[in-house]
Amino acid sequence: MIKTVKSVNLAGKRVIMRVDFNVPMKDGVVQDDTRITAALPTINYILDQGVKTLTLMSHLGDPAKDSKKAKEKAEKDGKSFDEAAYIRGRHRMAPIAAYLEKKLGRSVIFAGEDGCYGKKAFIDSQKDGSVIMLENTRFHKEETSKDALERDKLAKELASYGDVFVNDAFGTAHRDHASTASIAKFVTPAVGGFLMEKEVRFLEPIVTNPEKPLVAIIGGAKVSSKIAVLESLLKNAKALVIGGGMAYTFLKAQGHEVGKSLVEDDQIGTAKNILEAAKKAGAEIVLPLDQVAAETFDAAASPVAVDSRDLPANLMGLDVGPKTIALYKKVLDTAKTIVWNGPVGVFEFDAFAKGTEEVAKLVAEATGRGAITVVGGGDSVAAVNKFGLASKMSHVSTGGGASLELLEGRKLPGIEVCRG
Ligand code: 3PG
Repeated sequence: MIKTVKSVNLAGKRVIMRVDFNVPMKDGVVQDDTRITAALPTINYILDQGVKTLTLMSHLGDPAKDSKKAKEKAEKDGKSFDEAAYIRGRHRMAPIAAYLEKKLGRSVIFAGEDGCYGKKAFIDSQKDGSVIMLENTRFHKEETSKDALERDKLAKELASYGDVFVNDAFGTAHRDHASTASIAKFVTPAVGGFLMEKEVRFLEPIVTNPEKPLVAIIGGAKVSSKIAVLESLLKNAKALVIGGGMAYTFLKAQGHEVGKSLVEDDQIGTAKNILEAAKKAGAEIVLPLDQVAAETFDAAASPVAVDSRDLPANLMGLDVGPKTIALYKKVLDTAKTIVWNGPVGVFEFDAFAKGTEEVAKLVAEATGRGAITVVGGGDSVAAVNKFGLASKMSHVSTGGGASLELLEGRKLPGIEVCRG
């Protein structure tokens, strides 16, 4: 476990807190505030302790990388590109400070758009109990630098804004950055917030000591991005349900006809190795028995039911069929822990959403009968939200890459600094 804010006397202290307010923005407007809402319990708790100041910091996209990409795209499309306007709309923290102010119901002072350096005097001059928000940490290349000494330059500066470092940015815990990890070298104590604590409490035991039987549902497009997590979960899982595009690489590895489905031919060997490892570990690999297929990858494509593992040459599998859903039900019925990462079909297209919706319902039902159910990864979280079932899960992670890396059994820099 990690040390949390509860282990520190915060009265009269200056707190520097890393949050993950990397939320989708459009023209300076917050599109989804899940991560902001998730940090409120820690923020409110800290303020209730009578701190001197609470200074919040986060990244918001990656200004340099994102604008380079957007500029290249605009050039390709023959369109003009206003870099300053682009960054203003997507990367500035001022609108987030204003948003948080409304959520908190108290003033949030934005520390200015000239970056994160040189703010100590400004912070120290604020009245007791002030909440301050810094500019996007990724406006400084030191934040993400591979050079530890360069990172330390920014980390030391940020550390000087606090007597205590609180990390509640689970979504960024897999990044070894100045504001997530290096900072802990220069300000002690370093502790986690309640969000960080909850994420670790639900996700870590899945790899270390889950309540068994454990069933993992792993979907998504590519085997290559899920190899490490599949290998890691095999150690404890009774069954691995493999769905989504990646299932077709496994089916091909077993000698099935996959038609026009998405297949990573260079991962067939990996799929065979995972099938072999599962056999040795006594874990069942659950692959689709039937499919909902189409001729093209298109929201308007006509769905074709295929009552077989094999697909005709003109079709691609885009969702699982009723036999597969019945099999999922059987496999999930006795699970005491279920972890779900990645949809089992193209749920963004209504005609191919049923499999993923049924999985969401089955996992929600499992919560109802007392199983621990954890959903991680951007797409499966989007799916449970779309089907209105997020509140029916034991835990819905705020981390995409971070939850995946934790399930891979890796140590995450932003968590390790909170171990005390
Ligand atoms: C996320 O959205 O996954 C986190 O905020 C981390 O962002 P990053 O992938 O840009 O480091």
